[in-house]
Amino acid sequence: MQIRYFGHSAMLIELARATLLVDPFITGNRLAEPVVAPAELKPDVILLTHAHGDHWGDTETIAKASRALVISNDDIAQHIIRRYEYHNVRGMNTGGQATFEWGHLRLTYARHSSSFPDGTYGGNPNGFLLRADGNTLYMLGDTGLFSEMEWTGRDNEIDVAFLPIGDNYTMGPSDAILAAGMLRPRLSVPVHFNTFPEIEVDAEAWARDMAAAGFPARVLEPGETLVI
Ligand code: NI
Ligand code: MN
Repeated sequence: MQIRYFGHSAMLIELARATLLVDPFITGNRLAEPVVAPAELKPDVILLTHAHGDHWGDTETIAKASRALVISNDDIAQHIIRRYEYHNVRGMNTGGQATFEWGHLRLTYARHSSSFPDGTYGGNPNGFLLRADGNTLYMLGDTGLFSEMEWTGRDNEIDVAFLPIGDNYTMGPSDAILAAGMLRPRLSVPVHFNTFPEIEVDAEAWARDMAAAGFPARVLEPGETLVI
């Protein structure tokens, strides 16, 4: 499995049977714009954690060009049908699971908010637990720390957790270390940092603090690919 990180929370996951694009915020993302253009992205599936502009991003353009299946909470899915007249959507909701030909997905709780850039209600925010090709990935989405992560760590052997560390809008570095303690992933990768001035973080220092606490962490540069 290959995961190409574009900065912020945007990444492309290459599975054996499908290519998944997560939170495709490319246009206006100073980390992503130098390394990828929306037109290059031809996913089979787009996973949206919530409706905020820095996650919704280029979803409309990329979905309409690639005819990708958009998977999100059902409020977002219904809005996509009504507002964008795009019907290849799959609405789910917190705690729900579904099996697809390429893998198994569960929408997890995320302690955050979710409205579209124009203020339209975007349901509740989520994270994604993805099991595919023998690996389990946990994209936490935008979230603060919450104690049910303990259960997620107990019930799942997580290979890679994508932890927000930028603070201000989500967990910051120290809470992300506490999250790793509950989730116990084999590897932690930081996301949602350095995109905007208010979420600037020394990610390498965080990775060292993680290692000192016993949690392997790896910082991906925008454009870099992680192979697991
Ligand atoms: Ni958000
Ligand atoms: Mn965000």
